[in-house]
Amino acid sequence: MYNCISPGNVNNFVFFPSPSLSLSHTHVVIVIAINLHYPIGHCFCSSCVQEVKTITSLQISEFKLCDGEAGVSYGHQVLYMSKDFGLRTEGSKYPDASGILKDGFSRLLYVIQAPHVADGTISHFQQSLVLQGIHVLISSPNEKLEYGIDESYKLSIASSGAPVYAHLEAQTVYGALHGLQTFSQLCHFNFTTRVIEVRQAPWEISDQPRFPYRGLLIDTSRHYQPLPVIKKVVDSMAYAKLNVLHWHIVDSQSFPLEIPSYPKLWNGAYSISERYTMADAAEVVSYAQRQGINVLAEIDVPGHALSWGPGYPTLWPSKDCQQPLDVSNEFTFQVIDGILSDFSKVFKFKFVHLGGDEVNTSCWETTPHVRNWLQKHSMNASEAYAYFVLRAQKIALSHGYEIVNWEETFNNFGNKLSRKTVVHNWLGSGVVERVVAAGLRCIVSNQDKWYLDHLDTTWPDFYSNEPLANITNPKQQELVLGGEVCMWGEHIDGSDIEQTIWPRAAAAAERLWTPYEKLAKDPKQVTGRLARFRCLLNQRGVAAAPLALPGRGAPLEPGSCYMQ
Ligand SMILES: *[C@@H]1O[C@H](CO)[C@@H](O)[C@H](O)[C@H]1NC(C)=O
Ligand SMILES: *[C@@H]1O[C@H](CO)[C@@H](O)[C@H](O)[C@H]1NC(C)=O
Ligand SMILES: *[C@@H]1O[C@H](CO)[C@@H](O)[C@H](O)[C@H]1NC(C)=O
Ligand SMILES: *[C@@H]1O[C@H](CO)[C@@H](O)[C@H](O)[C@H]1NC(C)=O
Repeated sequence: MYNCISPGNVNNFVFFPSPSLSLSHTHVVIVIAINLHYPIGHCFCSSCVQEVKTITSLQISEFKLCDGEAGVSYGHQVLYMSKDFGLRTEGSKYPDASGILKDGFSRLLYVIQAPHVADGTISHFQQSLVLQGIHVLISSPNEKLEYGIDESYKLSIASSGAPVYAHLEAQTVYGALHGLQTFSQLCHFNFTTRVIEVRQAPWEISDQPRFPYRGLLIDTSRHYQPLPVIKKVVDSMAYAKLNVLHWHIVDSQSFPLEIPSYPKLWNGAYSISERYTMADAAEVVSYAQRQGINVLAEIDVPGHALSWGPGYPTLWPSKDCQQPLDVSNEFTFQVIDGILSDFSKVFKFKFVHLGGDEVNTSCWETTPHVRNWLQKHSMNASEAYAYFVLRAQKIALSHGYEIVNWEETFNNFGNKLSRKTVVHNWLGSGVVERVVAAGLRCIVSNQDKWYLDHLDTTWPDFYSNEPLANITNPKQQELVLGGEVCMWGEHIDGSDIEQTIWPRAAAAAERLWTPYEKLAKDPKQVTGRLARFRCLLNQRGVAAAPLALPGRGAPLEPGSCYMQ
């Protein structure tokens, strides 16, 4: 394992995912504490490097990922955060009518003030070093969270002023929210003065994501996830700058969501209390959107849909052979239409996910009335599978959605899919290349690297998974929208979801956010910084697990958070 983490030196900055930094200095000094307990040279950025180095700007590229950790962009100056640290917006074109920026600012104050009571006296400090607030300038008045929206921001903090205001510029309020997240990672409580400090000013950070789609899947069918649990997951996604919550709502095991058009569908819930009303779903969407996160809703058809039957048994081929959904029954498509019609009122994201994976058609071939229907329509079972998926796609298009489907649809009848399909890779390698060569878009979630339920997949595996592997043509690269880590719910409920997601999802989040040339070639270089990020998550009340163990591991021994 990569257990080479520097202890308690919380002086250092976290910066996860790593932003692009503009460095104003050509010579920088990296001073790293000596820690004899850990092997030398094992982790480049951590305390294992037992020397003081002077590097030139030409060498900075080697150190990029360590910028935050090793304090590369130091400007010597410590700023002291005022107790009435405030938000200024004059000159901004964004009116903030619905309070998205104000709420983001409140969350910022919460995360920087929650870990300690800052009861020191700020008047002891030189007024020109008091950080009085943050001035946010947003150029677009629009707050629609469109897919592919500009998420860039520029954050600058001068080393003195009268008093100092941090400056944050962004095209959209959602870019500004990312800037506030980065700012939060610069704030440190000083135990001597009991004041929150921003160290090593001046700062200049110019930042934007590499991919427009940076997702996390949650599964509320295998286990019900209560609304406050989902909201906490959303909060933690924002800390890592993920921007799509893929909500795998329904599967074979349970149907927890209210569907007004077909009100008996949620008879397939595990119990009468393990359900979401449509108002709950709207709340998840709104809560996420206010943090810059879109919700991709999924109904997985025609397989993975056994739980539709308790409400409407005619959706099953028969009582004895219950899935996939009955392809021969017009009612099946009416129900899908009703669901997607109800979805379109609440799930406003450009895409809906229609599943389409792991379809075992044997029930269609063995159930007499379905077999007769197949014969009458001169279809074999695999043609009927294509017919079903394509018809569901047309229904989704009629409700204004573009479609995401799992990769089996592409693997079986890729040339028949709507051109508005995004193929969701999960089975393995080589698929993304074929999808983009066929001119379709793709999301990467290969199960060997990006499935969080695979507990033996380590964070370096998550970090190293490159969505554009083997894709060199720039036009084809653009068709890779990004990727998604998947938290399948067989062994996940409110008791363990956070520690199974974090910190491994953060390793993938950096892969999806940070420019390729700034990513670590060797994930070991990230260890210290990721360890700090996971401690930061703990400080914010997120149950992120230690790095040094398989997914969801418990700490092995007494010790500092920074060393686990
Ligand atoms: C905390 O503040 C004191 C007094 O200004 C300073 O000497 C010390 O370096 C600060 N601590 C850290 C960890 O920066
Ligand atoms: C498909 O389903 C049938 C009947 O439910 C089952 O007997 C068969 O083992 C399944 N095939 C696969 C590959 O899972
Ligand atoms: C189904 O029919 C198609 C078209 O005739 C054919 O290419 C395919 O091999 C058939 N599949 C099976 C499983 O028989
Ligand atoms: C890239 O290509 C190599 C060589 O063909 C192959 O081994 C590898 O699996 C491919 N990687 C991905 C992610 O498809």
